[in-house]
Amino acid sequence: MALPTVRTVKDLRAQVRTWRREGLKIGFVPTMGALHEGHLTLVRLAGEKADKVVVSIFVNPKQFGPEEDFAAYPRKEEADLKLVEGAGAALAFLPSIEEIYPEGYLTTVSVGQLVRPLCGVFRPGHFEGVATVVAKLLNAAEADLAVFGEKDYQQLLVIRQMVKDLNIPAEIVGAPTVREPDGLAASSRNAYLKGDERQIAKVLPRTLIALIKQAREGKELKELARKGRDVLLRNGFTGVDYLEFRSGLDLSTADDVDNDTRLFAAGWIGQTRLIDNMKVSD
Ligand code: PAF
Repeated sequence: MALPTVRTVKDLRAQVRTWRREGLKIGFVPTMGALHEGHLTLVRLAGEKADKVVVSIFVNPKQFGPEEDFAAYPRKEEADLKLVEGAGAALAFLPSIEEIYPEGYLTTVSVGQLVRPLCGVFRPGHFEGVATVVAKLLNAAEADLAVFGEKDYQQLLVIRQMVKDLNIPAEIVGAPTVREPDGLAASSRNAYLKGDERQIAKVLPRTLIALIKQAREGKELKELARKGRDVLLRNGFTGVDYLEFRSGLDLSTADDVDNDTRLFAAGWIGQTRLIDNMKVSD
């Protein structure tokens, strides 16, 4: 039997409320589709923590900048539904743009200083778009918990803060980054990498690992960050938006390594932007 789907908030709530009356716990995994192993890991994790898992697929126009790939973003609804069903989802929520942003829609959610550094510098408005849609989806799904990947670590922090600040009654669960065998973090945008670009991409995680080793040995973090940028550019990256050591708690700049320090990077290979981050201490 095919995975049940709903397309309206009304129908989503009706199903979730029925499950709730039966005493079931609801897990939720919001996605933009073009699903890969990383997403399926989130669905499986939600399934370990809840009785019923709802997956939403919605390519959110508000989190794409005017020059970004909203129109070209891969859309594979049929294949996605099969994948999430295989990973144990009980329901898919597939809203239209009008269902999420009806005519006259005005509200934007902004999450203070957490949206400013790292991707916030290069993608103005992106995290406001993410926070807005996630607030709406969490309100629509009325789930007990929602799972997000640590690959988008800044997004995870923004969502945690928003949920706390707005008293949204869902537990936010972070899931470790899923990687390809050569270390590249799983991402829907990896599908854009053509030929040699896929080989170049693996330099990103390898560089982060090498820098982290040296950071643990006590090398100066700013110098390591400079070195890391050079390594990426010398090995085929066409641009580096940032490569920075920051606190994994509040994204403040890290001058020394402590238990919460993470290394964050975003770089370009041709038209494809890749991001990654790793914890520095063991
Ligand atoms: O990480 C994503 O895929 C998106 O940013 C999210 C959380 C589904 C919001 O559109």
